[in-house]
Amino acid sequence: MIRQATPEDYDYIISSLNDWWDGRQMVDMLPRLFFEHFGDTSFVAEIDGRIAGFITGFLSQQHTSDAYIHFAGVDPEYRGHGIARSLYERFFSAVTERGRTVVKCVTSPVNGESVAFHRHMGFTVRPGDAERAGVQIHENHDGPGQDRVLFMKNLPA
Ligand SMILES: CC(C)(COP(=O)(O)OP(=O)(O)OC[C@H]1O[C@@H](n2cnc3c(N)ncnc32)[C@H](O)[C@@H]1OP(=O)(O)O)[C@@H](O)C(=O)NCCC(=O)NCCS
Repeated sequence: MIRQATPEDYDYIISSLNDWWDGRQMVDMLPRLFFEHFGDTSFVAEIDGRIAGFITGFLSQQHTSDAYIHFAGVDPEYRGHGIARSLYERFFSAVTERGRTVVKCVTSPVNGESVAFHRHMGFTVRPGDAERAGVQIHENHDGPGQDRVLFMKNLPA
């Protein structure tokens, strides 16, 4: 079941986050505000009452055609069953209903699986200022040493 995210979902998700990202330190990148202020465009997948995955995103205020996905993750126990696809598609339809035609997001170059997943989901890599392992990157995009791969996807009208 996919439903809108609520602030009550935050504690479980934040306590699971580093495990879901293979032990990487991710919790600093997902503050509670996403669940308090972006519930209309953030969703969780539930299986037997347990949160199996989530997506948080928002409508860009600056670029009125754009929506932005900040974070998405699926519990390793439930991967490979279409949960991330369902969450992304729910996000795409929510933002399309609100007039958005472009979805953007970023990932770290070290997260090769995320790069492969986003390409598979129809995102293209935006040209950067350097290349690593054949992928265009934006060096220091999120601060010193914080390189990012930038993605975009046009939504069907
Ligand atoms: C990436 C992630 C979200 C995928 O979740 P999932 O529920 O296993 O993905 P799905 O089963 O919905 O897969 C959807 C599609 O993507 C493909 N896919 C999934 N993982 C992939 C990968 N690592 N590389 C390439 N394609 C991938 C699937 O084959 C599937 O294709 P199809 O629908 O055309 O058959 C999950 O592995 C995860 O949470 N990883 C850690 C967190 C992370 O990196 N998040 C993304 C960046 S914020």
